[in-house]
Amino acid sequence: MSFAARSATQALRAASRRAPRALSVASLKPAQAASYSLFAHAAAAKSSRSAVQGTRGVKTLNFAGTEEVVYERSDWPLAKLQDYFKNDTLALIGYGSQGHGQGLNARDNGLNVIVGVRKDGESWRQAMEDGWVPGETLFPIEEAIKKGTIIMNLLSDAAQSQTWPTIAPLITKGKTLYFSHGFSIVYKEDTKVIPPPDVDVILVAPKGSGRTPSSKDVTGKAKEKAIALGVGIGSGYMYDTTFEKEVYSDLYGERGVLMGAIQGLFLAQYQVLRKNGHTPSEAFNETVEEATQSLYPLVGQYGMDYMYNACSTTARRGALDWAPVFEKANVPIFEQLYESVRNGTETRKSLEFNGRSTYREDLARELKEINDQEIWRAGKVVRSLRPDYKPE
Ligand SMILES: NC(=O)c1ccc[n+]([C@@H]2O[C@H](COP(=O)([O-])OP(=O)(O)OC[C@H]3O[C@@H](n4cnc5c(N)ncnc54)[C@H](OP(=O)(O)O)[C@@H]3O)[C@@H](O)[C@H]2O)c1
Repeated sequence: MSFAARSATQALRAASRRAPRALSVASLKPAQAASYSLFAHAAAAKSSRSAVQGTRGVKTLNFAGTEEVVYERSDWPLAKLQDYFKNDTLALIGYGSQGHGQGLNARDNGLNVIVGVRKDGESWRQAMEDGWVPGETLFPIEEAIKKGTIIMNLLSDAAQSQTWPTIAPLITKGKTLYFSHGFSIVYKEDTKVIPPPDVDVILVAPKGSGRTPSSKDVTGKAKEKAIALGVGIGSGYMYDTTFEKEVYSDLYGERGVLMGAIQGLFLAQYQVLRKNGHTPSEAFNETVEEATQSLYPLVGQYGMDYMYNACSTTARRGALDWAPVFEKANVPIFEQLYESVRNGTETRKSLEFNGRSTYREDLARELKEINDQEIWRAGKVVRSLRPDYKPE
Protein backbone atom coordinates (compact mmCIF):
# COMPACT_ATOMS: atom_id res chain seq x y z
CA MET A 1 0.00 0.00 0.00
CA SER A 2 1.42 3.33 -0.99
CA PHE A 3 0.39 6.77 -0.03
CA ALA A 4 -0.03 9.47 -2.60
CA ALA A 5 2.43 12.26 -2.00
CA ARG A 6 1.26 15.82 -2.52
CA SER A 7 3.72 16.19 -5.33
CA ALA A 8 2.61 13.02 -7.07
CA THR A 9 1.04 12.86 -10.48
CA GLN A 10 -2.49 13.73 -11.38
CA ALA A 11 -3.36 10.05 -11.15
CA LEU A 12 -2.11 9.88 -7.63
CA ARG A 13 -4.00 12.95 -6.62
CA ALA A 14 -7.16 11.68 -8.21
CA ALA A 15 -6.80 8.29 -6.56
CA SER A 16 -6.11 9.81 -3.19
CA ARG A 17 -9.47 11.56 -3.17
CA ARG A 18 -11.09 8.27 -2.26
CA ALA A 19 -8.21 6.07 -1.15
CA PRO A 20 -4.80 7.21 0.01
CA ARG A 21 -2.81 4.99 -2.29
CA ALA A 22 -0.33 5.65 -5.01
CA LEU A 23 -0.63 4.27 -8.47
CA SER A 24 2.06 2.38 -10.25
CA VAL A 25 2.50 0.48 -13.42
CA ALA A 26 3.71 -2.89 -14.56
CA SER A 27 3.51 -5.49 -17.26
CA LEU A 28 3.57 -9.26 -17.10
CA LYS A 29 5.85 -11.41 -19.14
CA PRO A 30 5.88 -15.17 -19.26
CA ALA A 31 9.50 -15.97 -18.79
CA GLN A 32 11.22 -12.93 -17.43
CA ALA A 33 8.59 -10.77 -15.89
CA ALA A 34 9.53 -7.17 -15.93
CA SER A 35 7.21 -4.63 -14.43
CA TYR A 36 7.16 -0.97 -13.77
CA SER A 37 6.01 1.08 -10.96
CA LEU A 38 5.66 4.73 -10.40
CA PHE A 39 8.08 6.55 -8.19
CA ALA A 40 5.60 9.05 -6.93
CA HIS A 41 7.57 10.88 -4.33
CA ALA A 42 9.21 13.97 -5.77
CA ALA A 43 11.64 14.20 -2.87
CA ALA A 44 12.85 10.68 -3.54
CA ALA A 45 13.37 11.44 -7.19
CA LYS A 46 15.15 14.69 -6.40
CA SER A 47 17.54 13.28 -3.84
CA SER A 48 18.48 10.50 -6.24
CA ARG A 49 19.36 12.90 -8.98
CA SER A 50 23.08 12.78 -8.24
CA ALA A 51 22.99 9.06 -8.93
CA VAL A 52 21.26 9.42 -12.30
CA GLN A 53 23.30 7.84 -15.06
CA GLY A 54 21.12 8.79 -18.00
CA THR A 55 19.72 12.20 -18.80
CA ARG A 56 16.21 11.47 -20.11
CA GLY A 57 13.92 8.51 -20.12
CA VAL A 58 15.21 5.16 -18.97
CA LYS A 59 17.91 5.55 -16.40
CA THR A 60 19.68 3.65 -13.67
CA LEU A 61 19.42 4.96 -10.14
CA ASN A 62 21.41 3.84 -7.16
CA PHE A 63 19.02 3.09 -4.28
CA ALA A 64 21.33 2.88 -1.26
CA GLY A 65 23.78 0.63 -3.07
CA THR A 66 21.35 -1.27 -5.30
CA GLU A 67 21.10 -0.25 -8.95
CA GLU A 68 17.57 -0.15 -10.33
CA VAL A 69 16.21 0.80 -13.73
CA VAL A 70 13.69 3.63 -13.70
CA TYR A 71 11.47 4.50 -16.67
CA GLU A 72 10.44 8.10 -17.09
CA ARG A 73 7.47 9.89 -18.57
CA SER A 74 9.71 12.15 -20.63
CA ASP A 75 10.19 9.29 -23.10
CA TRP A 76 6.47 9.50 -23.86
CA PRO A 77 5.43 12.98 -24.96
CA LEU A 78 1.68 13.32 -25.40
CA ALA A 79 1.73 13.11 -29.21
CA LYS A 80 3.71 9.86 -29.10
CA LEU A 81 1.41 8.45 -26.43
CA GLN A 82 -1.73 9.29 -28.38
CA ASP A 83 -0.22 7.86 -31.55
CA TYR A 84 0.77 4.66 -29.73
CA PHE A 85 -2.81 4.05 -28.58
CA LYS A 86 -4.57 5.48 -31.64
CA ASN A 87 -6.10 2.11 -32.53
CA ASP A 88 -6.91 1.12 -28.95
CA THR A 89 -9.94 1.44 -26.72
CA LEU A 90 -9.12 1.32 -23.03
CA ALA A 91 -12.05 -0.42 -21.32
CA LEU A 92 -11.95 0.43 -17.62
CA ILE A 93 -13.90 -2.23 -15.76
CA GLY A 94 -14.86 -0.96 -12.31
CA TYR A 95 -14.99 2.59 -11.07
CA GLY A 96 -13.60 2.63 -7.53
CA SER A 97 -10.73 4.94 -6.63
CA GLN A 98 -8.49 3.41 -9.30
CA GLY A 99 -11.04 3.42 -12.09
CA HIS A 100 -11.87 7.00 -11.27
CA GLY A 101 -8.28 8.30 -11.11
CA GLN A 102 -6.82 6.25 -13.93
CA GLY A 103 -9.81 6.78 -16.19
CA LEU A 104 -9.91 10.55 -15.83
CA ASN A 105 -6.17 10.85 -16.40
CA ALA A 106 -6.19 8.64 -19.47
CA ARG A 107 -9.15 10.61 -20.82
CA ASP A 108 -7.38 13.91 -20.09
CA ASN A 109 -4.36 12.55 -21.96
CA GLY A 110 -6.56 12.20 -25.03
CA LEU A 111 -6.77 8.41 -25.03
CA ASN A 112 -9.89 6.58 -26.11
CA VAL A 113 -11.39 5.39 -22.80
CA ILE A 114 -14.69 3.74 -21.95
CA VAL A 115 -15.99 2.61 -18.55
CA GLY A 116 -17.74 -0.68 -17.79
CA VAL A 117 -19.65 -1.09 -14.51
CA ARG A 118 -22.85 -2.62 -13.19
CA LYS A 119 -25.75 -0.76 -14.71
CA ASP A 120 -27.40 1.65 -12.25
CA GLY A 121 -25.03 0.75 -9.40
CA GLU A 122 -23.12 3.24 -7.29
CA SER A 123 -20.19 3.24 -9.75
CA TRP A 124 -22.52 3.87 -12.67
CA ARG A 125 -23.87 6.92 -10.88
CA GLN A 126 -20.40 8.20 -10.02
CA ALA A 127 -19.13 7.65 -13.56
CA MET A 128 -22.03 9.68 -14.94
CA GLU A 129 -21.18 12.45 -12.47
CA ASP A 130 -17.65 12.46 -13.92
CA GLY A 131 -18.97 12.91 -17.43
CA TRP A 132 -18.96 9.36 -18.79
CA VAL A 133 -21.99 9.08 -21.06
CA PRO A 134 -24.23 5.97 -21.13
CA GLY A 135 -24.14 4.34 -24.55
CA GLU A 136 -21.10 6.41 -25.62
CA THR A 137 -18.38 6.02 -23.00
CA LEU A 138 -20.25 4.18 -20.23
CA PHE A 139 -21.48 0.60 -20.66
CA PRO A 140 -22.46 -2.49 -18.68
CA ILE A 141 -19.38 -4.61 -17.96
CA GLU A 142 -19.77 -7.23 -20.68
CA GLU A 143 -20.46 -4.66 -23.37
CA ALA A 144 -17.40 -2.58 -22.42
CA ILE A 145 -15.17 -5.64 -22.55
CA LYS A 146 -16.43 -6.50 -26.01
CA LYS A 147 -15.70 -2.97 -27.22
CA GLY A 148 -12.29 -2.64 -25.55
CA THR A 149 -8.88 -3.71 -26.83
CA ILE A 150 -7.17 -3.12 -23.49
CA ILE A 151 -9.30 -4.52 -20.67
CA MET A 152 -8.39 -2.76 -17.44
CA ASN A 153 -9.76 -4.95 -14.65
CA LEU A 154 -10.27 -2.48 -11.82
CA LEU A 155 -13.03 -4.28 -9.99
CA SER A 156 -12.39 -4.96 -6.31
CA ASP A 157 -10.06 -7.95 -5.91
CA ALA A 158 -12.90 -10.12 -4.57
CA ALA A 159 -15.15 -9.07 -7.47
CA GLN A 160 -12.41 -9.93 -9.99
CA SER A 161 -12.57 -13.48 -8.75
CA GLN A 162 -16.38 -13.63 -8.57
CA THR A 163 -16.92 -12.21 -12.08
CA TRP A 164 -14.07 -14.09 -13.79
CA PRO A 165 -16.24 -16.92 -15.18
CA THR A 166 -18.39 -14.33 -17.00
CA ILE A 167 -15.53 -12.09 -18.04
CA ALA A 168 -12.96 -14.66 -19.19
CA PRO A 169 -14.68 -15.80 -22.41
CA LEU A 170 -14.95 -12.16 -23.53
CA ILE A 171 -11.20 -11.59 -23.35
CA THR A 172 -10.45 -12.81 -26.83
CA LYS A 173 -7.22 -13.14 -28.79
CA GLY A 174 -5.54 -9.82 -29.53
CA LYS A 175 -6.93 -8.03 -26.48
CA THR A 176 -4.67 -7.00 -23.61
CA LEU A 177 -5.62 -7.78 -20.03
CA TYR A 178 -4.58 -5.24 -17.42
CA PHE A 179 -4.62 -5.33 -13.61
CA SER A 180 -3.73 -2.87 -10.87
CA HIS A 181 -2.72 -5.49 -8.31
CA GLY A 182 -0.94 -8.84 -8.56
CA PHE A 183 -3.57 -10.37 -6.26
CA SER A 184 -5.82 -12.17 -8.76
CA ILE A 185 -2.94 -13.58 -10.80
CA VAL A 186 -0.48 -14.57 -8.07
CA TYR A 187 -3.09 -16.33 -5.93
CA LYS A 188 -4.77 -17.99 -8.90
CA GLU A 189 -5.39 -21.27 -6.99
CA ASP A 190 -7.75 -19.29 -4.77
CA THR A 191 -9.03 -16.65 -7.18
CA LYS A 192 -9.33 -18.95 -10.22
CA VAL A 193 -8.33 -16.00 -12.39
CA ILE A 194 -6.30 -17.62 -15.18
CA PRO A 195 -5.82 -15.41 -18.25
CA PRO A 196 -6.35 -16.92 -21.69
CA PRO A 197 -3.07 -18.03 -23.29
CA ASP A 198 -3.24 -15.70 -26.27
CA VAL A 199 -3.49 -12.26 -24.62
CA ASP A 200 -0.83 -9.94 -23.21
CA VAL A 201 -1.22 -9.41 -19.48
CA ILE A 202 -0.20 -6.08 -17.99
CA LEU A 203 -0.15 -4.70 -14.48
CA VAL A 204 -0.48 -1.02 -13.62
CA ALA A 205 -0.55 -1.08 -9.87
CA PRO A 206 0.69 0.37 -6.64
CA LYS A 207 4.27 -0.86 -6.82
CA GLY A 208 4.68 -3.41 -9.55
CA SER A 209 4.12 -6.77 -11.08
CA GLY A 210 6.06 -9.64 -12.41
CA ARG A 211 6.31 -13.21 -13.46
CA THR A 212 3.49 -15.60 -13.14
CA PRO A 213 3.22 -18.85 -15.01
CA SER A 214 -0.18 -17.96 -16.36
CA SER A 215 0.89 -14.68 -17.95
CA LYS A 216 1.95 -14.31 -21.51
CA ASP A 217 3.73 -11.70 -23.56
CA VAL A 218 2.13 -12.84 -26.78
CA THR A 219 2.96 -9.82 -28.89
CA GLY A 220 6.44 -9.16 -27.51
CA LYS A 221 5.21 -5.66 -26.69
CA ALA A 222 3.73 -6.19 -23.22
CA LYS A 223 6.48 -4.28 -21.45
CA GLU A 224 6.31 -1.33 -23.81
CA LYS A 225 2.53 -1.26 -23.54
CA ALA A 226 2.74 -1.31 -19.76
CA ILE A 227 5.13 1.63 -19.68
CA ALA A 228 2.97 3.57 -22.12
CA LEU A 229 -0.17 2.80 -20.11
CA GLY A 230 1.63 3.88 -16.96
CA VAL A 231 2.31 7.22 -18.55
CA GLY A 232 -1.23 7.32 -19.93
CA ILE A 233 -2.78 7.04 -16.49
CA GLY A 234 -0.50 9.73 -15.11
CA SER A 235 2.60 8.03 -13.72
CA GLY A 236 5.86 9.93 -13.72
CA TYR A 237 8.36 7.19 -12.92
CA MET A 238 8.22 3.41 -13.15
CA TYR A 239 10.55 0.68 -12.01
CA ASP A 240 10.95 -3.04 -12.53
CA THR A 241 9.51 -5.50 -10.06
CA THR A 242 7.62 -8.80 -10.22
CA PHE A 243 3.95 -9.72 -9.77
CA GLU A 244 4.79 -11.70 -6.68
CA LYS A 245 6.93 -9.00 -5.12
CA GLU A 246 4.27 -6.39 -5.78
CA VAL A 247 1.49 -8.33 -4.13
CA TYR A 248 3.59 -9.69 -1.27
CA SER A 249 4.98 -6.29 -0.30
CA ASP A 250 1.60 -4.63 -0.69
CA LEU A 251 -0.33 -7.06 1.52
CA TYR A 252 2.53 -7.19 4.02
CA GLY A 253 2.95 -3.42 4.26
CA GLU A 254 -0.70 -2.57 4.80
CA ARG A 255 -1.04 -5.23 7.48
CA GLY A 256 2.22 -3.98 9.00
CA VAL A 257 3.58 -0.52 9.54
CA LEU A 258 1.17 1.25 7.18
CA MET A 259 -1.94 0.37 9.18
CA GLY A 260 -2.25 -2.84 11.20
CA ALA A 261 0.95 -2.57 13.20
CA ILE A 262 0.49 1.14 13.76
CA GLN A 263 -3.02 0.73 15.17
CA GLY A 264 -1.73 -2.08 17.40
CA LEU A 265 1.26 -0.07 18.60
CA PHE A 266 -0.79 3.07 19.24
CA LEU A 267 -3.29 1.04 21.28
CA ALA A 268 -0.60 -0.74 23.28
CA GLN A 269 1.18 2.49 24.22
CA TYR A 270 -2.09 4.28 25.02
CA GLN A 271 -3.39 1.45 27.22
CA VAL A 272 -0.27 1.35 29.36
CA LEU A 273 -0.36 5.11 29.85
CA ARG A 274 -4.03 4.92 30.89
CA LYS A 275 -3.38 2.01 33.27
CA ASN A 276 -0.74 4.15 34.93
CA GLY A 277 -3.16 6.97 35.59
CA HIS A 278 -2.54 9.30 32.65
CA THR A 279 -5.55 11.19 31.35
CA PRO A 280 -6.97 10.41 27.89
CA SER A 281 -5.75 13.74 26.52
CA GLU A 282 -2.23 13.17 27.79
CA ALA A 283 -2.15 9.57 26.58
CA PHE A 284 -3.47 10.56 23.14
CA ASN A 285 -1.14 13.52 22.78
CA GLU A 286 1.91 11.45 23.68
CA THR A 287 0.91 8.59 21.41
CA VAL A 288 -0.81 9.91 18.29
CA GLU A 289 -0.96 13.69 18.17
CA GLU A 290 2.73 14.38 18.60
CA ALA A 291 3.64 11.54 16.27
CA THR A 292 1.38 12.47 13.39
CA GLN A 293 1.50 16.23 13.75
CA SER A 294 5.10 16.96 14.48
CA LEU A 295 7.47 13.96 14.33
CA TYR A 296 6.37 11.76 11.43
CA PRO A 297 6.24 14.61 8.89
CA LEU A 298 9.88 15.35 9.76
CA VAL A 299 10.86 11.70 9.42
CA GLY A 300 9.13 11.71 6.03
CA GLN A 301 10.86 14.86 4.92
CA TYR A 302 14.38 14.33 6.24
CA GLY A 303 14.76 10.76 7.50
CA MET A 304 15.10 9.15 10.92
CA ASP A 305 18.70 10.27 11.53
CA TYR A 306 17.51 13.87 11.26
CA MET A 307 14.75 13.18 13.79
CA TYR A 308 17.22 11.68 16.25
CA ASN A 309 19.50 14.65 15.77
CA ALA A 310 16.74 17.24 16.15
CA CYS A 311 15.22 15.96 19.40
CA SER A 312 16.43 16.55 22.95
CA THR A 313 19.45 14.64 24.23
CA THR A 314 17.18 12.88 26.71
CA ALA A 315 14.75 11.74 24.04
CA ARG A 316 17.60 10.69 21.76
CA ARG A 317 19.30 8.49 24.38
CA GLY A 318 16.08 6.69 25.24
CA ALA A 319 14.99 6.23 21.63
CA LEU A 320 18.41 4.88 20.67
CA ASP A 321 18.24 2.35 23.51
CA TRP A 322 14.66 1.21 22.96
CA ALA A 323 14.61 0.92 19.14
CA PRO A 324 16.50 -2.42 19.14
CA VAL A 325 14.18 -3.77 21.86
CA PHE A 326 11.13 -3.06 19.69
CA GLU A 327 12.91 -4.40 16.62
CA LYS A 328 13.75 -7.67 18.35
CA ALA A 329 10.23 -8.09 19.69
CA ASN A 330 8.66 -7.36 16.31
CA VAL A 331 10.80 -9.30 13.83
CA PRO A 332 9.12 -12.63 14.70
CA ILE A 333 5.69 -11.05 14.21
CA PHE A 334 6.70 -9.61 10.84
CA GLU A 335 8.11 -12.99 9.81
CA GLN A 336 4.82 -14.62 10.76
CA LEU A 337 2.95 -11.97 8.78
CA TYR A 338 5.12 -12.38 5.66
CA GLU A 339 4.57 -16.13 5.73
CA SER A 340 0.84 -15.64 6.11
CA VAL A 341 0.92 -13.44 2.99
CA ARG A 342 3.21 -15.79 1.06
CA ASN A 343 1.21 -18.94 1.74
CA GLY A 344 -2.07 -17.33 0.73
CA THR A 345 -3.73 -17.26 4.17
CA GLU A 346 -4.23 -13.49 3.93
CA THR A 347 -5.66 -13.81 0.44
CA ARG A 348 -8.15 -16.48 1.42
CA LYS A 349 -9.33 -14.40 4.39
CA SER A 350 -9.71 -11.35 2.20
CA LEU A 351 -11.63 -13.23 -0.51
CA GLU A 352 -13.91 -14.81 2.06
CA PHE A 353 -14.66 -11.55 3.90
CA ASN A 354 -14.88 -9.24 0.90
CA GLY A 355 -16.92 -11.76 -1.06
CA ARG A 356 -19.71 -11.94 1.54
CA SER A 357 -23.04 -10.43 0.60
CA THR A 358 -23.01 -8.80 4.05
CA TYR A 359 -19.52 -7.36 3.42
CA ARG A 360 -20.49 -3.71 3.87
CA GLU A 361 -22.44 -4.27 7.13
CA ASP A 362 -19.74 -6.56 8.57
CA LEU A 363 -17.09 -3.97 7.81
CA ALA A 364 -19.18 -1.16 9.27
CA ARG A 365 -19.48 -3.14 12.51
CA GLU A 366 -15.72 -3.57 12.83
CA LEU A 367 -15.00 0.04 11.95
CA LYS A 368 -17.53 1.17 14.56
CA GLU A 369 -15.57 -0.79 17.15
CA ILE A 370 -12.46 1.22 16.28
CA ASN A 371 -14.41 4.45 16.24
CA ASP A 372 -15.70 3.62 19.74
CA GLN A 373 -12.26 2.93 21.20
CA GLU A 374 -11.39 5.47 23.88
CA ILE A 375 -8.16 6.44 22.14
CA TRP A 376 -9.98 7.60 19.00
CA ARG A 377 -12.81 9.20 20.91
CA ALA A 378 -10.22 11.17 22.88
CA GLY A 379 -8.55 11.97 19.57
CA LYS A 380 -11.65 13.72 18.26
CA VAL A 381 -11.52 16.14 21.17
CA VAL A 382 -7.76 16.68 20.86
CA ARG A 383 -8.12 17.40 17.14
CA SER A 384 -10.85 19.95 17.85
CA LEU A 385 -8.28 21.99 19.79
CA ARG A 386 -5.96 22.41 16.82
CA PRO A 387 -5.75 26.04 15.67
CA ASP A 388 -6.60 25.00 12.10
CA TYR A 389 -9.46 22.72 13.20
CA LYS A 390 -12.31 22.23 10.76
CA PRO A 391 -15.37 20.26 12.00
CA GLU A 392 -15.21 16.64 10.72
N1 LIG B 1 -7.82 1.56 -3.70
C1 LIG B 1 -6.57 1.82 -4.01
O1 LIG B 1 -6.04 2.83 -3.60
C2 LIG B 1 -5.77 0.90 -4.91
C3 LIG B 1 -4.46 1.24 -5.21
C4 LIG B 1 -3.76 0.48 -6.10
C5 LIG B 1 -4.33 -0.66 -6.64
N2 LIG B 1 -5.58 -0.99 -6.30
C6 LIG B 1 -6.16 -2.16 -6.97
O2 LIG B 1 -7.02 -1.64 -7.99
C7 LIG B 1 -8.14 -2.52 -8.16
C8 LIG B 1 -9.41 -1.71 -7.94
O3 LIG B 1 -9.42 -1.22 -6.62
P1 LIG B 1 -10.33 0.04 -6.20
O4 LIG B 1 -9.98 0.36 -4.78
O5 LIG B 1 -10.26 1.10 -7.22
O6 LIG B 1 -11.78 -0.54 -6.32
P2 LIG B 1 -12.74 -1.17 -5.20
O7 LIG B 1 -13.30 -0.04 -4.42
O8 LIG B 1 -12.06 -2.26 -4.49
O9 LIG B 1 -13.82 -1.80 -6.20
C9 LIG B 1 -14.86 -1.02 -6.66
C10 LIG B 1 -15.47 -1.51 -7.96
O10 LIG B 1 -15.76 -2.90 -7.95
C11 LIG B 1 -17.13 -3.03 -8.37
N3 LIG B 1 -17.70 -4.26 -7.87
C12 LIG B 1 -17.63 -4.73 -6.60
N4 LIG B 1 -18.25 -5.93 -6.53
C13 LIG B 1 -18.71 -6.21 -7.77
C14 LIG B 1 -19.40 -7.31 -8.35
N5 LIG B 1 -19.74 -8.38 -7.61
N6 LIG B 1 -19.70 -7.25 -9.66
C15 LIG B 1 -19.35 -6.18 -10.42
N7 LIG B 1 -18.69 -5.12 -9.93
C16 LIG B 1 -18.37 -5.13 -8.62
C17 LIG B 1 -17.82 -1.78 -7.84
O11 LIG B 1 -18.99 -1.54 -8.58
P3 LIG B 1 -20.37 -1.08 -7.86
O12 LIG B 1 -20.24 0.36 -7.51
O13 LIG B 1 -21.38 -1.35 -8.92
O14 LIG B 1 -20.53 -1.95 -6.64
C18 LIG B 1 -16.75 -0.74 -8.13
O15 LIG B 1 -16.81 -0.27 -9.45
C19 LIG B 1 -7.93 -3.66 -7.16
O16 LIG B 1 -7.24 -4.68 -7.82
C20 LIG B 1 -7.04 -3.02 -6.10
O17 LIG B 1 -6.26 -3.95 -5.38
C21 LIG B 1 -6.32 -0.23 -5.47
